[in-house]
Amino acid sequence: GMATGNKLRHVESLQEMPSGAGKISCLNAVILGEALASEENDLVFPSDDFARQAHVSSPQQYLEMYKRSVEDPAGFWSDIASEFYWKQKWDQPVCSENFDFRKGNISIQWFKGGLTNICYNCLDRNIESGNADKIAIYWEGNDLGVEDSLTYAQLLDRVCQLANYLKAIGVKKGDAVVIYLPMLMELPIAMLACARIGAVHSVVFAGFSSESLAQRILDCKPKVVITCNAVKRGAKAIHLKDIVDAALVDSAKNGISDFVPKYPPTCEVEWVDAEDPLFLLYTSGSTGKPKGVLHTTGGYMVYTATTFKYAFDYKPSDIYWCTADCGWITGHSYVTYGPLLNGASVVVFEGAPTYPDAGRCWDIVDKFKVTIFYTAPTLYVTRYSRKSLRVLGSVGEPINPSAWRWFFNVVGNSRCPISDTWWQTETGGFMITPLPGAWPLKPGSATFPFFGVQPVIVDEKGVEIEGECSGYLCVKSSWPGAFRTLYGDHERYETTYFKPFAGYYFTGDGCSRSNGQKIADGLHPCFRDKDGYHWLTGRVDDVINVSGHRIGTAEVESALVSHPKCAEAAVVGVEHEVKGQGIYAFITLVEGEPYSEELRKSLILTVRKQIGAFAAPDKIHWAPGLPKTRSGKIMRRILRKIASRQLDELGDTSTLAEPHVVEQLIELADR
Ligand code: WTA
Repeated sequence: GMATGNKLRHVESLQEMPSGAGKISCLNAVILGEALASEENDLVFPSDDFARQAHVSSPQQYLEMYKRSVEDPAGFWSDIASEFYWKQKWDQPVCSENFDFRKGNISIQWFKGGLTNICYNCLDRNIESGNADKIAIYWEGNDLGVEDSLTYAQLLDRVCQLANYLKAIGVKKGDAVVIYLPMLMELPIAMLACARIGAVHSVVFAGFSSESLAQRILDCKPKVVITCNAVKRGAKAIHLKDIVDAALVDSAKNGISDFVPKYPPTCEVEWVDAEDPLFLLYTSGSTGKPKGVLHTTGGYMVYTATTFKYAFDYKPSDIYWCTADCGWITGHSYVTYGPLLNGASVVVFEGAPTYPDAGRCWDIVDKFKVTIFYTAPTLYVTRYSRKSLRVLGSVGEPINPSAWRWFFNVVGNSRCPISDTWWQTETGGFMITPLPGAWPLKPGSATFPFFGVQPVIVDEKGVEIEGECSGYLCVKSSWPGAFRTLYGDHERYETTYFKPFAGYYFTGDGCSRSNGQKIADGLHPCFRDKDGYHWLTGRVDDVINVSGHRIGTAEVESALVSHPKCAEAAVVGVEHEVKGQGIYAFITLVEGEPYSEELRKSLILTVRKQIGAFAAPDKIHWAPGLPKTRSGKIMRRILRKIASRQLDELGDTSTLAEPHVVEQLIELADR
C-alpha cells in the first residue's frame, strides 16, 4: 500500500523555480522531512510500484516539466498539440493574450490559424490508430440490468448519423444547438455530432426546469433543441419532452420534429479554426442571470486531454468512470472530451448513485472493473470490494481531511492515490491537482498547479503575497483551456473576472496558506502552506455548490421573491452533510401574511419550478426583517453565522440599521 506519515523520500535537492513559480521551491522542506504533527505535515506517499509506472514519477520530473511549461509555454504546448490531428497547423504565435484591462480588451488565443476538429480527434484519429473495436462507452441504465456499449467505430457511426440529420435540418457551422438530455449515450453523441459539423453546443442539465431552459434558449438562440421523451431517475419518471415544449412556448414557437436516425453513418468533418467556439455552458455567478461561458476548440482540446492523462495517470488499459452529468463542466471535460481524446473506455451512468440502494456505485465499479473513479466528495457508503481501482479523483468542493481519509482508506483500500482536482467551468480543465505518482499527498489539499498554470494569492488590494498566508486565488497569464468570453457580454467577462485584481484572472475562490485560516469577513479562502501546497476552502462570492451543482444565491433569491407572498429573500450556503453545501433561505413575507407550512412548501415549489429541484432550499427561515447596513445592504456575513448557528461569532452588529432584527432572527431559527 501507500506509505503514510513523515517519511523521508525523494531526497534529492530540487532546483530553484523560475520567478512566478518560486513558491514551489519550498517543497524542499517537505521532502527533507521537517516533520511537525499537524495536518499540513501529514504526507501520503505514492507506493514505489505506482510511482514507477506513472507518467510523472517524482517531484523532480514534475518540476522540470512545470518549469518548461511556464518559461516556454509555446514550446511546451505546441509539442503536446502536435500529437493531435491538425488539418493545417497554426500560423500565428501559439499563444497571444492580454490579461490586463488597463492595456486594452482582455483577449486570449491559442493555436490561432490552426484548423482542426475535436470530434475527429476523439473518434477518427483513435480508430485510425487501431482502436476501432475498443469500447468507447459502457452505458449503465437507471434500472438494473439495462445496459449498452459502443466501440469507437460504432460511436463514430452514431455521431455521423446525428450530424447528418442536423445538417439536413439546416444546422450550420457556428449555429447554436441546445442539448437537454439525461445521461444517455445520446448525450455525448449529440455533443460530438455538433462538434463534427462546427455547431456550438449548449448542454442544459436535465435537472433544470422549463423556465431555466427557456432563459438559456432565449439567450443563445439555438437552431435546434435536442431532447428525449422521458427519463427515469431513481424510481421517478421525468417527462423531458413536456418540459421542452413548455420552454419553447416561453421562448420561441417552432416546429417540433421527431428524430429518426435513418441517416448515413459517415459524415465529412467541418474543419474549424482553433479559436472557433466549441460550446457554451451556462453557469451561475453572483448576480441573477446565468452566464454563457464560451470555450473554443484547439486550446480546450489540448488542455482537457493533457490534464486527463496526467492527473489520473491514464493508461490505455484503464476503465474510467466519472459520476458527473454532462450538463455540467465536469461532464464536458471529463466524461466526453478528455477521456475520448485519450482513446479511453468511459462508463456513462444514467441513474442516481443511490438507486436502488446506496451500494449502486460500488456495484458499477465492480461490474466494469473501473480503475479510475472520479466523483464529488458527497458520494459515500461502503459495501463491496473495489479491487479494480487504482486512482481516485475528487472535485467540486473542498474535501476535508477526514472525508479524504475515508475515501482513501475505505474506497481505495489505502492503495489508490486521490487526485483532488480544483478547477471551474471557466477554466475548462484542472488547474490545481495532484499528479498521483509524483507527489506525496496531503489529505485535503489539491497540492500543486498543473503544467502552465500560475496561481497566485493576492490580498484585498491585489498585491501578491508570498509564503504562508491566505487571500484571494488568482491566476497569472492564460492556459490553453481558459474560457474566452461570456457569450454576448464581453464586458461582463472583463468586469467579473479581470477587473477585481488588475493583471490577473480572479477565480472567485479564496486560498490560504495554513489549514483553516480565514479572511476577515469569515469566508474561507484558499491557502498555500509553507511547502507550497494549496488548500482551497471555498468561494468568496455568492456562488454555492450543492451536490456538485453550481448555483448562485441570487438566482434562488430572485425565484423566491417572484412568489406573490414573499417580500424579500436572502439565501446563503451552509455546510450540509450529504450535499456538501445546503441552501438556506431567509424569507420576509409581505405585510400581514402569517407563517405556515403550506407557504413554506409553496415557496420551495416556486424554486423547483423556476430553476430545478436541485436548487430547492433545504431550510426556510422566517425573517420579519433582514440585517442591513444603514445604506440598505444585506449583511450576509451575519446571515451565514445565523444559518450555521455560530451565534457567538456574529461579530460587530452595531453598524446595522436595526440591530434588533438579529435577535428576532435567532428567536425564529427553529420555527
Ligand atoms: C469549487 C466544477 C475545492 C470551487 C469543476 C470552484 C472546489 C467551483 C474543487 C467551480 C476542489 C471545484 N476543492 N473546491 N477540488 N473543485 N471547487 O464551475 O469553489 O461547477 O470555484 O466547476 O467549485 O464550480 P464549477
